[in-house]
Amino acid sequence: MNLILPSIFAADLMNLKSECDVLYEEGFQVLHVDMMDGNFVPHIAFGPEQIKNIKKQVNMKLDVHMMVSAPEQHIASVLDTGAEMISVHYESTPHIRFVIDQIKQHGRKAGIVINPGTDTSLLKPFLNIIDYVLVMSINPGRPNQVFMEETIDRIRELKVMIGQRDIQIEVDGGVDESIASQCIEAGASLVVIGSYLFSNNKAHVKNLKSLEHGERKDERK
Ligand code: DX5
Ligand code: ZN
Repeated sequence: MNLILPSIFAADLMNLKSECDVLYEEGFQVLHVDMMDGNFVPHIAFGPEQIKNIKKQVNMKLDVHMMVSAPEQHIASVLDTGAEMISVHYESTPHIRFVIDQIKQHGRKAGIVINPGTDTSLLKPFLNIIDYVLVMSINPGRPNQVFMEETIDRIRELKVMIGQRDIQIEVDGGVDESIASQCIEAGASLVVIGSYLFSNNKAHVKNLKSLEHGERKDERK
């Protein structure tokens, strides 16, 4: 099954709880939470204490996307939030193996994120330890960017490289319903969606949900 992960960076923060409750009622299972430090990326958003509070308030699992420099200095507090999935940028540290080991030792799912300019082959040494790869389809840290078309080929490359291993491919940035379908077709099974999902358009929510089960638009009545 594919999963659509709402990215709360695009949510209305004043109504975060009710927006998340609506998505939970619709059947979304995992929330994507962007942690930004104003250094690795220009914005500052969602520190560990806030994430911990969100975790207490919502019924969904959390996928924390760490966009921070020196993640090895923050991983303990991110683990303390209780997040079930944690990903760390390949570009953010020379200590990536240490961070991944910490995540795995705590029984969580571990992912490595790659920026659009990072070669997919650099992930080869990690294929025996990670649970997912997050492919950025925009420059990280900024909302409302346009999906980079070459991401589809990068997903295909990763799919071949992963082979039979139990590793999921996640995509994040500038995704709408039709792009989500293309990403899934190329091999992604975790699709992060921000502004398109939090646009107060009920049809977007329903259509995206149906993609989780591989339904095509033309198959629906
Ligand atoms: C951007 C974040 C994304 C962002 C996606 O760096 O990692 O999770 O919220 O938002 P959209 O789908 O609006 O591009
Ligand atoms: Zn993200």
